Amino acid sequence: MFRFLFSSIGQKIQIAFSGFALSVFLLFHLFNNLVLFTGQENFNSMVSFLKSVHLLVRILEFGLVGIILLHIVNAIYSTIRNKRANNGKYAVSADTAPRSSKTMIWSGLIILFFFVIHLRYYWYTFQLLDKDANFYDYMLLDKFGFLGHTPTAVIYIAAILLISTHLKHGFLSIFKTFGVPLKYREGILKYVALLFWAIIPAGFIIVILGIQFGIIN
Ligand code: HEM
Repeated sequence: MFRFLFSSIGQKIQIAFSGFALSVFLLFHLFNNLVLFTGQENFNSMVSFLKSVHLLVRILEFGLVGIILLHIVNAIYSTIRNKRANNGKYAVSADTAPRSSKTMIWSGLIILFFFVIHLRYYWYTFQLLDKDANFYDYMLLDKFGFLGHTPTAVIYIAAILLISTHLKHGFLSIFKTFGVPLKYREGILKYVALLFWAIIPAGFIIVILGIQFGIIN
């Protein structure tokens, strides 16, 4: 079992499942952020409710960190393994891999950098605030790290577009890796993938534009 998990295919399965779990997190996260459109009161009560069940939130956050680590460690390990295979005598030429798959590790690392900035400003700031704070105002701050600040909004949009290409490639390549027949890949799975790589990122961008153009104010 242990050997299987760390075999080449075992690692792909781990990357696929952790990637999917992260995508589901993104869907929930988007719903939380869309509440901004319904006004200050609703957004503040939602965050305040999450603070009141903070033990549960902590457990989920630990789970999330575990899943992120699983995704990153397996992705890096699998990239190194592919590189070695390419340099070795049983070379499976990396040049035959699509360009986007070679850049997955780089887009992944840039996303990680975005993650650090995002958590430093939003997550950390929210940790310092008490249950009755006006969280909504912090969402709109015109200061580096917050979305009322135009350069920060531009960095966010760039990062989200990168996340979108990372997700698109991830979903489509994993279906191929597991040998899902083309007719299914062209059918329902294409639309499932579309939800994650197109609709969710578009939702985040709409929230950012909503803040920048004063629709959320
Ligand atoms: C419009 C864009 C976004 C906004 C306004 C936003 C807002 C927030 C806020 C306010 C928090 C703190 C929540 C709290 O502590 O209660 C947070 C946490 C977090 N965000 Fe975002 N986010 C955005 C996009 C993203 C994206 C694209 C990702 C992932 C790639 C992401 C990943 C996370 C993670 C992992 C956390 C910490 C988990 C948690 O405690 O909920 N966010 N975000």
